This record gives sequence, C-alpha cells and structure tokens, in this order.
Amino acid sequence: MSIILGIESSCDETAAAVVTSDRQILSHKLAGQETEHAPFGGVVPEIAARAHAEILTPLIQAALDEAELGLNDVDAIAATAGPGLIGGVMVGLVTGKALAMASGKPLVAVNHLEGHALSPRLVNPELGYPYLLLLVSGGHCQILRVEGVNQYRRLATTIDDAAGEAFDKTAKILGLGYPGGPKVEALAKKGDASAVPLPRPLKGSKEPHFSFAGLKSAVLRAHESGKFADVDIAASFQQATVDCLKDRLDKALLETKPVKHLVVAGGVAANGAIRAMLEQVAADNDMAFTAPPLWLCTDNAAMIAWAGVERFAAGLTDGLDVTAKPRWPLDPGATKARGAGVKA
Ligand code: KG4
Ligand code: ZN
Repeated sequence: MSIILGIESSCDETAAAVVTSDRQILSHKLAGQETEHAPFGGVVPEIAARAHAEILTPLIQAALDEAELGLNDVDAIAATAGPGLIGGVMVGLVTGKALAMASGKPLVAVNHLEGHALSPRLVNPELGYPYLLLLVSGGHCQILRVEGVNQYRRLATTIDDAAGEAFDKTAKILGLGYPGGPKVEALAKKGDASAVPLPRPLKGSKEPHFSFAGLKSAVLRAHESGKFADVDIAASFQQATVDCLKDRLDKALLETKPVKHLVVAGGVAANGAIRAMLEQVAADNDMAFTAPPLWLCTDNAAMIAWAGVERFAAGLTDGLDVTAKPRWPLDPGATKARGAGVKA
C-alpha cells in the first residue's frame, strides 16, 4: 500500500490531502478564497497566489496531523503542476518540491485535469479503464476517452467558453455574485425552464465540440430586455446548457468505440440537472454511470493525491526541475477544434 500527500493550488482553493492506494482518504483540508475575490466578481490571480502562499504550509501540516502521519510516513508528494493560474500553481509546486527535497521522497507533478479525470476511481473501485468522461469545470469543457493513467483521447472541447464559465457569467449578469454555479442552480429550481427562448449553440453539428459564448450573450440580452424574471432566465439557461451537453455527448457516443462506463468530473458535475441528464444518457446507452460526491467534484487535493497514487504506481515520478505549466492539455495530440480560441 502507498500513502500519498496531495497539494492543490491552481485556482482559488488551497488544499492538502493524504490518500492511500487502497482508497482511504486519511485527511483532506480545503481553504477557499471566496471573501478575497468576491468584491471583484471573479478570481484575481495575484490575490489568489498570495493567499495560497499564506495558507498552504499550515494546511499541509493540518492534513498530516489529521492523518496522524509525519512527512516521513508518506511514499510520495503529489502537487498540481498545471494547468491553472500560474502564480498559484508555482506556490503549490515549489512547496511540493521543497517537501520532496527535505524528505527525500519522490515528487509527482500532477495535471489538475487528470486529478478531476481520475477522481471517480477514488470512490468507485469498480470503475475500470476505459471510460467516457465529461469533464466540465470553470476552465474546461471536454469529452475524453480515458484509456489509462496518462492516456487520454480528447473527442471534443469547447471552441469558446467552458460550461462553468457560462454559469459564472450568467450569475454575474443576474447579480448573484461569485462563484456562480451553485447560485444559478438554486435560482433555476424556482423558475420555468421554457420561459425564455435561448439558443443551443452547435446543437446537431458534425463534430461533438461545445460552444457557450452565444448562450451567455443571449442571457445578457434576455436580462437587458426586462421582459423575463431572473428565476426564469436561470432555469432556461440551465436547461439550454443541459440540452447542449446532451446533444454533444450523444454525438461523441456515436463516434467512439463503446465503453461500459460514463463518468462526469469537474466543478459543474455538482449540478443536479446535469447529473440527472447524464444518468439518463448512460441508461439509454446501457452504460453504468459514476459521478463523484459533490465535495470531490469541485477543486480539492484528494483528487490530486489519488492521481499521485495512480502515477506513483505506474512509476511516473518527476525530477525537481519539473516546471509549472499554465496550459497543459491531457491529449497533446488532439487536433485543434475548428473555431477554437485560446482555450484547449
Ligand atoms: O473544477 P472547479 O472547482 O474549478 C476549475 O478547475 O475550474 O470548477 C469550478 C466551476 C465554476 O465555474 C463553478 O461555477 C462551477 O464549477 N460549479 C457549478 C456548480 N458548482 C460549481 N456549476 C453549475 N452548478 C453547480 N452546482
Ligand atoms: Zn478544477
């Protein structure tokens, strides 16, 4: 059995966790930065990096204390090395390197997206490779065929905004504050999903890619028209997002070799309406469905520690010269989506 310390600092959550290869979560600690970023309506990279630098080391100590372990008891140190806000990533990775150097333990540089992608395996021992993954977060919206640790085939990506970004922008338009996803979902429960006519960008298009920028603009126009209640805008927006995700996923399923398992991961996987749709898609295609518990969907260090477990078991450790990467696609060989902007 191996014991891995995980460190996460790529966006606005500082986190540390201790996880074992037999799926015990010995501790997981999380410090959010909502109050620091709230006045700005989004994450401010410089504020995030400073906050990570202040809180990370005591948080790692707290995670080790709760696990009743010292640094010498862990087998490796896994730290997020990208993609993300580079200042924050550097804080976590450099801390991981320093701990690895001081303890003589190996370092595992983890791709944050691989953390999300493998997190369902931490809670579901039945989930074997390969599986089809919908990865939906604040920065990413992708469909991946997960073939093994470090082995991904990207079937689709967004050509503009990520799904979480669309939730956050809708929240901003409706004056709900940051982070927007949970607030839009709560408001949507009270509204009529068919009240506001909104587009379903790329629905029916040939490749299974996503687009959400036009949906966000339509939400803005609907709000500015003054004709619709906020609850109805929230419900209609969420329904449009669900419809787009379903259409694109159905397309991807037609195009890839059958797999037994459909899996969702990333912060937007916390959304109940999206989970319900995915459960139905899985049932319609004779697939099992796995969604991690809500706390494991949004950013955390247990998923980084678990990716560390899997990489360590596969012999994938890193030297102390490994660098932090603001961009780091899971499938570097994937062809660029037509019309794609800067996001991969
Ligand atoms: O994975 P994550 O914690 O951070 C990134 O790596 O991006 O995802 C955060 C994103 C945010 O855009 C947030 O608004 C969204 O996940 N989110 C939700 C919900 N909870 C979080 N979106 C829709 N419904 C939710 N319940
Ligand atoms: Zn994330």
